[in-house]
Amino acid sequence: MKSRLTHLPIHDIELSPSFAADFISEFIKACEKGRAGGDLYHSWKVCIMTYMIGKRMGLSDPGRRELFFASLLHDIGGVMVGGHVVEKLTQVPDVYGQKNDFLIFAHPYRSQTIMRSFPTFRQISKIVGAHHEFFDGSGFPSGLKGEEIPLAARMIRLADSVDITLKLHHIDDLSELLQFLHFSVGEEFDPAVFEAFRELVLGDSLLDMVKDSAEIERNMKKIKSEMNDTYYFASPDTLNRFFRMISIVTDNLTSPSSLHSLNVSDTAVQIAGLMGLPDTELMTIRWTGFLHDIGKLVVDRSVYFKKEKLSEEEWMQIHAHPQLTYDILNMVDGLDKIAFYALYHHENFDGSGYPEHLKGSKIPLGSRILHIADAFEAMTSNRVYQRKKDWLDALDELKKNRGTQFDPEIVDTFVKEFS
Ligand SMILES: [Fe+2]
Ligand SMILES: [Fe+2]
Ligand SMILES: [Fe+2]
Ligand SMILES: [Fe+2]
Repeated sequence: MKSRLTHLPIHDIELSPSFAADFISEFIKACEKGRAGGDLYHSWKVCIMTYMIGKRMGLSDPGRRELFFASLLHDIGGVMVGGHVVEKLTQVPDVYGQKNDFLIFAHPYRSQTIMRSFPTFRQISKIVGAHHEFFDGSGFPSGLKGEEIPLAARMIRLADSVDITLKLHHIDDLSELLQFLHFSVGEEFDPAVFEAFRELVLGDSLLDMVKDSAEIERNMKKIKSEMNDTYYFASPDTLNRFFRMISIVTDNLTSPSSLHSLNVSDTAVQIAGLMGLPDTELMTIRWTGFLHDIGKLVVDRSVYFKKEKLSEEEWMQIHAHPQLTYDILNMVDGLDKIAFYALYHHENFDGSGYPEHLKGSKIPLGSRILHIADAFEAMTSNRVYQRKKDWLDALDELKKNRGTQFDPEIVDTFVKEFS
């Protein structure tokens, strides 16, 4: 069945003026949770600092917007199953070592590749790909030099380095920090960008803005209120592509099947179509399919790839993911219904599911559909703990669990069409 989503009017979802900024900042924050549960805030800090530098250097509104998204997403390719590239960078502080560490060396290019898959961010992807280039040409991955490096990437380089330097050296004294950075002016840093930074830290106490989590949250909120980015998603097709990009990033980090969310989304839309649900509902279900597992990004992602028996704590983490997905989506205006459907995508029809043990029609219809699509996808793709099932076997499995795990009527509709 062909999806009709690209022909839908976007006004079915009410996007706030800072929709992209809200969504991406929450998404990045989820990716950057440390193992102890606290937020790393690395990209948020880099974003706040570069945004202020950009303002100081007189960047236009569109330029600042580009800078905002590039700095938030600069390390998206450095989010790994077992951690974050920043943790590695603090262990390998010199550029020669960094070039010899494949994960570090390749992460700007990975960030660029991810962002290029979303055409609206193609321009921004070039900035992101160059954020470890040094002004004198000794950086990586391409050895670009001076003006060959986009200005925004030179700004990110400095802010990125500031955050890592502060992590590494516990510098409290401002003049000590400036002295430290000054060694690399003209080598790692663009002198003009350094000068703007120096004026900012001396005058407007830029470093206070990223001092602690409360200050970071407050300043990010303030910057986001200056954003007007809905034109990025002027059509449902663009929004569709954006959520698709997010789903691929999520699946690569949390699922043995890199197309998990995409397939769940397709199957769920097919079922919803067979049930005659209206177009707006199909759209909501498609996007919930793309986003339903983003809560899995939070904390320890390696648990989703484990072959060994899981501990009780690891099961608790797995069971927490629908709530975590909800928490992320709920921070973004306009995604309430998607957040709600995602929250209940692991509820079983007989009340034995999670997180709230809802039963029967108490579970939203969209969630019941997604639950079936999710299980079907899991059965028909290769998993660490099981080989994929044949299509017909998977349909049998759905039938076997009709009324207990799954809504019997939805199972019947699906099975009738595909067996
Ligand atoms: Fe980086
Ligand atoms: Fe970074
Ligand atoms: Fe899930
Ligand atoms: Fe899933």
